[in-house]
Amino acid sequence: MKFKKPRGTQDLLGKYMEKWSSVEERITGILRSYGYLEIRTPIFEVSDLFVRTVGESSDIVTKEMYMFKDKKGRRLTLRPENTAPVMRAYLENGLQRQGGISRFYYMGPMFRYDRPQAGRYRQFHQIGAEAIGTSNPAIDAEIINLSMDIYRAFGFSSLQVRLNSVGCMKCRGEYMGFLREKLEEYKPELCDDCRQRTDTNPLRVFDCKTCVSVKEKLPTITDHLCEECNEHFEKLCAILKQMGVDFVIDPLLVRGLDYYTKTAYEIVCPELGAQNALCGGGRYDGLASELGGVSIPAVGFSAGMERLMQILPDELDKSETTMTRAYFVVFDDKCSIQAMVLADRLRSAGFVAYVDFSMRSIKKQLKSASTRGYDYAVFVGQKEIEDKEVTLKNMESGDQVTVSFEKLVSYFSEKGVVGIE
Ligand code: HAM
Repeated sequence: MKFKKPRGTQDLLGKYMEKWSSVEERITGILRSYGYLEIRTPIFEVSDLFVRTVGESSDIVTKEMYMFKDKKGRRLTLRPENTAPVMRAYLENGLQRQGGISRFYYMGPMFRYDRPQAGRYRQFHQIGAEAIGTSNPAIDAEIINLSMDIYRAFGFSSLQVRLNSVGCMKCRGEYMGFLREKLEEYKPELCDDCRQRTDTNPLRVFDCKTCVSVKEKLPTITDHLCEECNEHFEKLCAILKQMGVDFVIDPLLVRGLDYYTKTAYEIVCPELGAQNALCGGGRYDGLASELGGVSIPAVGFSAGMERLMQILPDELDKSETTMTRAYFVVFDDKCSIQAMVLADRLRSAGFVAYVDFSMRSIKKQLKSASTRGYDYAVFVGQKEIEDKEVTLKNMESGDQVTVSFEKLVSYFSEKGVVGIE
């Protein structure tokens, strides 16, 4: 084989892909239940969109962007994240004129040229939500609760929400001055990257995995918030408590993207090791004006699909995710058309029907029905066609029954679970 997938990418197929799709379906059901509507933006955008918002000195912009020039020499980038594109689309489509809050959700691939390891890919997938148009801390709480609902829907109840406020342009600016002074004092103890960060973006020192002992001695942003940011943070904490959402305040939490103001949070799964952040988000009140629009407050989150898949069991709770699935075992070519007609009837009634046209031995077809996880094998041979009935084999119990063509759909309706609960 001469070609292999690029490093840090994955082929999603087979049972893994089926699980992936049902996970996506369950999550989009939750997002829609909160009134969020889907938005799809281009996979690539003008590079400056990310440089201006994610931050010139961020790791994403300095090291990780898949940047290229098109034939006219325009600088484009495969999106490393989707918050800036959603805000760009919001402004470009004039949605601010509608007033009120616009709630969007999205899912799809993102691209970052990072060092691949467990839970970290160069092409990965996010499902996220953005609520644009209000500075009310209640919507920060909605976003945090909504993102937790995703994990609750899969039975995870003990994940941790780590919460912080990173202040606004004003108080963060002042705080960065203090931080720089302190970092100068500790310069000899810092790693090379952090020495540079002291000048370019001192907050990023909190992200460093090596300068742990210095981090603990530094002043935290939480102690330097202005009145407005402090009030926002206190209100948010009070609402979360009232809603019964558990969280831990982590004054050292900074996010790898520069656009955050006030709320910043992550949902972490301690068992995942180095890449333990399942989901990250926060408020980004300065992003719209950075794009040349008016000032529009907004908040959102993105959840990593690969990391969620990693902590889920191989088989999801079946009763909630499956509709009855029939595998048509076709004896010979003459029986194909009858099998297709019956399969169509089942599909119209909402069931899954797969017809095996391979003309392999019955044994091989049955084996394939079993490995693909079908609930029933439906035998269609010459004798069945003459008698106008099929033999059904329950793949789990092995029981066999004969059912007339006429009654096939009603038999499935009585036995089967249709659709997703
Ligand atoms: P982020 O923290 O960069 O935030 O990414 C969010 C999530 O995407 C992470 O918690 C992780 O689960 C997943 N993720 C990130 N990089 C990788 C990777 N290389 N491989 C696998 N999974 C990865 C954002 O992207 C912001 N746009 C979130 C946001 C939305 N803030 C406001 N609205």
